Amino acid sequence: MPISRTRRTGAAVVAAIACVSVTACSGGGADDGADYPTENIEVIVPFSAGGPTDTVTRLVADPMGAELGQQMVVQNVEGAGGTIGAGEASRARPDGYTLLLHHIGMSTAPALYENLPYDPQADFAPVGLVAEVPMTIISRNDLGPTTMDELATYIQQNQSTITYANAGVGSASQLCGLLLERALGVDFQEVPYDGAGPAIADVVGGQVDFMCDQTTNTSGQIRGGEVTAYAVTTPERLESLPDLQTTAEAGLPDLELSIWHGLYAPAETPEAVISKLEGALQTALADEAVANSFSDLGATVPAAEDQTPEGLAARLAEQTALWGEVISEPVG
Ligand code: MLT
Repeated sequence: MPISRTRRTGAAVVAAIACVSVTACSGGGADDGADYPTENIEVIVPFSAGGPTDTVTRLVADPMGAELGQQMVVQNVEGAGGTIGAGEASRARPDGYTLLLHHIGMSTAPALYENLPYDPQADFAPVGLVAEVPMTIISRNDLGPTTMDELATYIQQNQSTITYANAGVGSASQLCGLLLERALGVDFQEVPYDGAGPAIADVVGGQVDFMCDQTTNTSGQIRGGEVTAYAVTTPERLESLPDLQTTAEAGLPDLELSIWHGLYAPAETPEAVISKLEGALQTALADEAVANSFSDLGATVPAAEDQTPEGLAARLAEQTALWGEVISEPVG
């Protein structure tokens, strides 16, 4: 059942009831999106505030809202590795007023959850790719290791006691942890949080030992010396973190990972609405201030052809097939 979203005022409700057909109502086809948007737009972020997905969303929400002439309001709906927020977005009315900004987890969830309450491909209308974000392996400063080799040895020797923070099954941090376990041939304890924001706070505070997290969340802590950083999951070093080794340099060549983020509307959202959102996204991503913020946080703006419904749909399909192969059995 779609979430009932009554946004109309009393008078407008009376006027709407009085309309015997869409063409009889003033203001054009209210259901075909021709006059969209006429009010604020909610963007669901399926993780806690202050984390990497929240950061990316807030960087594009303001310029998109400026382009559309309506505010884009971020709504954090966290839990279950992003699947609670994605589920809520999938059930929203397809009118363009409830969107979802989510990442690679849209492609891993089908392999991780036996009973996922939505189909990431069938239940959403893609708008476009928003950002590509690498990951960094970090630990609390007093863990002991200072290089990836030393960390690998430490994990192998302490795998029953060391603790790894992630944002739940289906999160990017959980996926990176899975790949790290396979690369090192270990099985360490995972501590799930509702987002990488609260997770990194506990790494900094020493309540949890290490994690693999996106540069949009770790760059400040790494540059500020609040955590120990070991490697970044990009083929080349980042300009924003030039002293940080790549995973290949650190002896983990297979641990390359880019956390792609996409903007979605519920399936059946009118084409006119998707087209306006696509245009606003492209305008936001062309904004120099947005590009500079992304770059400072190690993120990159996707290629122009990927800032489209077709580009996001293709990435989601390709990645869903890939992770379906890599993730052999569900864990959620
Ligand atoms: C977040 O925004 O908290 C992260 O994307 C969580 C994760 O996927 O690790």
